[in-house]
Amino acid sequence: MADRINFALIGCGYIGKRHAEHIARLGNLVAVCDIKENRAIQLSDIYKCKHYVDIDVLLDELKTIDVVSICTPNGLHASHSIKSLNKGYHVVCEKPMALNAADCKLMIKTSKDVDKTLFIIKQNRFNPPIVALKKVIEEGRLGRIMNVQLNCFWNRTDAYYLDSDWKGKKALDGGVLFTQFSHFIDLLYWLVGEVSKVYSFTRNYMHPSTIEFEDSGVVVLEFFNGAIGAINYSINSFKKNMEGSITIVGEKGTVKVGGQYLNVLEYQCIDNYVISDIPESRPANEYGFYQGSMSNHDKIYENVIYVLNHNGTIAATGEDGLKTVEIIEKIYSSIAGINERK
Ligand SMILES: NC(=O)c1ccc[n+]([C@@H]2O[C@H](COP(=O)([O-])OP(=O)(O)OC[C@H]3O[C@@H](n4cnc5c(N)ncnc54)[C@H](O)[C@@H]3O)[C@@H](O)[C@H]2O)c1
Repeated sequence: MADRINFALIGCGYIGKRHAEHIARLGNLVAVCDIKENRAIQLSDIYKCKHYVDIDVLLDELKTIDVVSICTPNGLHASHSIKSLNKGYHVVCEKPMALNAADCKLMIKTSKDVDKTLFIIKQNRFNPPIVALKKVIEEGRLGRIMNVQLNCFWNRTDAYYLDSDWKGKKALDGGVLFTQFSHFIDLLYWLVGEVSKVYSFTRNYMHPSTIEFEDSGVVVLEFFNGAIGAINYSINSFKKNMEGSITIVGEKGTVKVGGQYLNVLEYQCIDNYVISDIPESRPANEYGFYQGSMSNHDKIYENVIYVLNHNGTIAATGEDGLKTVEIIEKIYSSIAGINERK
């Protein structure tokens, strides 16, 4: 494969624009596709590339792409990724990998069958305080992890949902744990381990007419390694995102990474060790009238290019994406038996 990799981008919305910037800087953006032609044309004009309105036509016509980046609504990730893999292309898929574990498994199987790589976007793993926390855990400095607390208090108004034809819909969005907080759930798995049991309560307090699921939830978790924890999440934080944090209590250390989007080391107390020299965190992704996670997509594309050119280690694999979806699926199915999701 040539050093400069050729990409096609499917989905030219909020995050698609970010992908286009990084692809064009680090590789070649050969084509973009969106069912809303004006969005595809807007990006193709900027990046001087082809535009399409139908992924099947793009995949049939183009013979010069190496990688397809999927930035379409959550519920389309599986079918778009599988089509692209089957045409012989590597795939970079936005989070969440898919809306159920069965689709994730099919994506993984297809990538193995056709021998093409599947990259899943988990850009919070690159947040500097999270990198530091992962390091102290891997070095055993916190000892056995006993308790975990994840808080996700963001703001998404009715206007946010009314601006979209898929956000808030069960079939294409799936729920706030998929769209807003799957990065945070990924960190539970990545830092602590696999979840064995969950028990959850959810409510739709402030979005009864705009979303088909909860806007708030509390989840109690048990991990296979014996740790216990809780998630408290809401998109009703007054006026703005206030907190995205994870606190870990280990036998030999307690650490909290917080800020609005896991961008600040809030406190630490570790046996004979101090985490220091953390590089400055990037700003959050700005989407005009709302904010998202830390802007780390350049790191994703640096990893994709490094893996494809030098056989390096994939930052987040299909198997990683599956773990997050399995945890969210467990949480939502535990709710189904307790209080019917709206
Ligand atoms: N990693 C992150 O921080 C991050 C941030 C935002 C969004 N996302 C994820 O990225 C994806 C897109 O989110 P967004 O906020 O950009 O949404 P968006 O609605 O702004 O963009 C999605 C685009 O896909 C297009 N589309 C829909 N169906 C299509 C099809 N069949 N073929 C081609 N294009 C199609 C839509 O017209 C739209 O322009 C979602 O999965 C979301 O969860 C990730």
